[in-house]
Amino acid sequence: MMYKSAIIGYGGVGNWHHASIKEKISRMDVKGVWDIRPEVKETAAKNGVLFYSSLDELLNDKELDIVTIATPNNFHKELSIACMKAGKNVVCEKPVTLNSGELEEIIKVSEQTGKIFSVHQNRRWDKDFVIVKKILNDNIIGKPYYIESRVQGSRRSLHGWRGHKVNGGGMVYDWGVHLIDQLLFLIDSPVVSVDASLYNIFSTEVDDNFKATLKFDNGINALVEIATNCFINQPRWHVSCREGTAVVEDWDCSGKIVKLSDNKIMEWADDIVYTSAGPTRTMAPRPSETVTTLSLPEVETDWADYYNNIIDTIENNAELIVKPSQSLRVMNVIDSIFEASASGQSVKCRI
Ligand SMILES: NC(=O)c1ccc[n+]([C@@H]2O[C@H](COP(=O)([O-])OP(=O)(O)OC[C@H]3O[C@@H](n4cnc5c(N)ncnc54)[C@H](O)[C@@H]3O)[C@@H](O)[C@H]2O)c1
Repeated sequence: MMYKSAIIGYGGVGNWHHASIKEKISRMDVKGVWDIRPEVKETAAKNGVLFYSSLDELLNDKELDIVTIATPNNFHKELSIACMKAGKNVVCEKPVTLNSGELEEIIKVSEQTGKIFSVHQNRRWDKDFVIVKKILNDNIIGKPYYIESRVQGSRRSLHGWRGHKVNGGGMVYDWGVHLIDQLLFLIDSPVVSVDASLYNIFSTEVDDNFKATLKFDNGINALVEIATNCFINQPRWHVSCREGTAVVEDWDCSGKIVKLSDNKIMEWADDIVYTSAGPTRTMAPRPSETVTTLSLPEVETDWADYYNNIIDTIENNAELIVKPSQSLRVMNVIDSIFEASASGQSVKCRI
């Protein structure tokens, strides 16, 4: 069976959903779109889809199985609820809402109506993330204890509504939500404390740079950083494990793993070494034969799994890949980030 869908909010990402579904999801057909900007009608016509004359017309279209919501963040809640009440399954862009309470309202409606609700956390399919997940799953360098996940840029711009508080602008909501979702998917343990520093380097309304530390109950700590004012980037991922270190430099996934050699040569003449910073035993480079350098593992990843899983859930009651309960954890962490930043204190939690 073909599934008919519509997109609400036909801007940057709404157009991307349309093009990507067309290219990759053979069992979905985007029938139409709705957007508050009337000029979008022309884009819709050019792209060969219906432009609904109103939100109500879309909601009353009995042919629609799935609606994708791709508006600015502050409209996600009311639109998701309206669509599910009108009998549609919903895919909602991230951040799903502005706080966990709003998401709880959505989840209640999903349970009442029996309609599927999933957040488009597409960065679970990013190659850099899947590589890190494989390194940890395959235990290539032992147990992790500190994971740094960063996305840094220097454009100092928050495009359009992203600069406005009322729309749910700022970097915690925009990129932070992706990196937090990835970490919660990677580390199978409750978050027990959150520290955060939010910065307003150029924006007067919203955070344009932030750093947050999440401590997990199993002892792993993770740093999340989003920068729009960073002129010398650090690696996308820096992963410290007991038997070695992994670095993924960027989205193109250059990087390496350096691990203790299998023969575990731990002993060598522990003589003092004279470096350009002076004499040191602790910080001098270790003998090269005691470590092995590996390439990052090859991984396969296909974003099409996201929508195919939505179809499988509708048809066969399959388990959702991006579950509302997972999105609720992400929003609880985001609530704690704002609380930690406002209070200047660590927030103790169990998320
Ligand atoms: N998953 C991702 O990788 C990713 C990437 C970029 C953006 N996003 C998310 O997608 C959403 C949209 O972002 P964007 O970059 O496409 O923004 P955008 O400004 O390019 O597009 C938003 C569109 O929504 C329309 N709109 C605004 N209010 C509306 C309403 N009440 N009803 C109907 N249409 C409305 C606007 O006219 C515009 O066409 C945001 O939630 C954003 O966080 C996700």
